[in-house]
Amino acid sequence: MKEVLIEVSNLTRTFHSGDKITKALDDVSFKLYRGETLGVVGESGCGKTTLGRCLAGLLKPDEGTIVTKANGYQIIFQDPYNSVDPYWTVESIVAEGLKNRKEAVGLLEKVGLSRQEKNSYPHELSGGQLQRVGIARALGTNPDFIVCDEPVSALDVSYQSKIISLLEDLQREQNLTYLFISHDLAVVRHIADRIMIMYKGQIMEMGKTEDIINDPVHPYTRFLLSAVPSPFEEKEEFTVRNDRIETGGCPFAPRCPYRKERCLSERCSSREIAEEHQVACFLTEE
Ligand SMILES: Nc1ncnc2c1ncn2[C@@H]1O[C@H](COP(=O)(O)OP(=O)(O)OP(=O)(O)O)[C@@H](O)[C@H]1O
Ligand SMILES: [Mg+2]
Repeated sequence: MKEVLIEVSNLTRTFHSGDKITKALDDVSFKLYRGETLGVVGESGCGKTTLGRCLAGLLKPDEGTIVTKANGYQIIFQDPYNSVDPYWTVESIVAEGLKNRKEAVGLLEKVGLSRQEKNSYPHELSGGQLQRVGIARALGTNPDFIVCDEPVSALDVSYQSKIISLLEDLQREQNLTYLFISHDLAVVRHIADRIMIMYKGQIMEMGKTEDIINDPVHPYTRFLLSAVPSPFEEKEEFTVRNDRIETGGCPFAPRCPYRKERCLSERCSSREIAEEHQVACFLTEE
């Protein structure tokens, strides 16, 4: 039986800057199970980081609730250089949040850094090494839930899979739950048990990774998949429109080649089309 670790209901978060109002999260609801990795995918500005920050307790939503059984939360950031103090040694960065500062060395070893590296300063390390420091720091408080916000996007390709394996090993050892944010479906499909596809603050589709990859339903998901390079699978050719029209319904409607009249005026709520597979699209009603 899967245990629900976090239940998110109707989460909404708006940002105001000048006259501009952005609904970064717009009525987002979902469950996160203990021990799973939920991938969050969508283009820049769709609300991934805002969601992660709300779940990690760094940002208050305007509306909605987050009910959680997690004992600790941490976040691992995209840019490891910007998320640490440049004047501190690696050991002191990791030790900062610890009750027993001596544990820092053990944590650094756990993430694959040597005793020699513990006395280094951030600028002396590679991006990948520094991301390991970020992971060690996150582990220090013994969290059971970690938001990984594009943890490998800033790293060399050769280093990405090493950090992903490290995250997977740690998850297995400590039964960690991850919200794994990425704009890259090719990365997420390897690590996630389930995938959430977001567009303009809303969930378009959510399901088990194999269902999202093999049986995508929402036109936006199909569009994203058509852009993922894959030598093995036959890919759908998918061309989106770029109409300058207002939508009070589906946020993807202006770009959707399959849109109907009602897609521009009515919001489509999420429907379960198979076990654990939800889609917010009127096409599923036909
Ligand atoms: N502090 C803020 N002030 C004003 N607007 C903000 C703020 N934070 C986020 N936004 C806006 O909210 C929307 C969602 O931003 P968010 O950072 O969550 O997107 P994202 O999916 O993480 O994007 P990226 O892939 O570029 O990291 C964007 O339109 C962004 O401009
Ligand atoms: Mg982001």
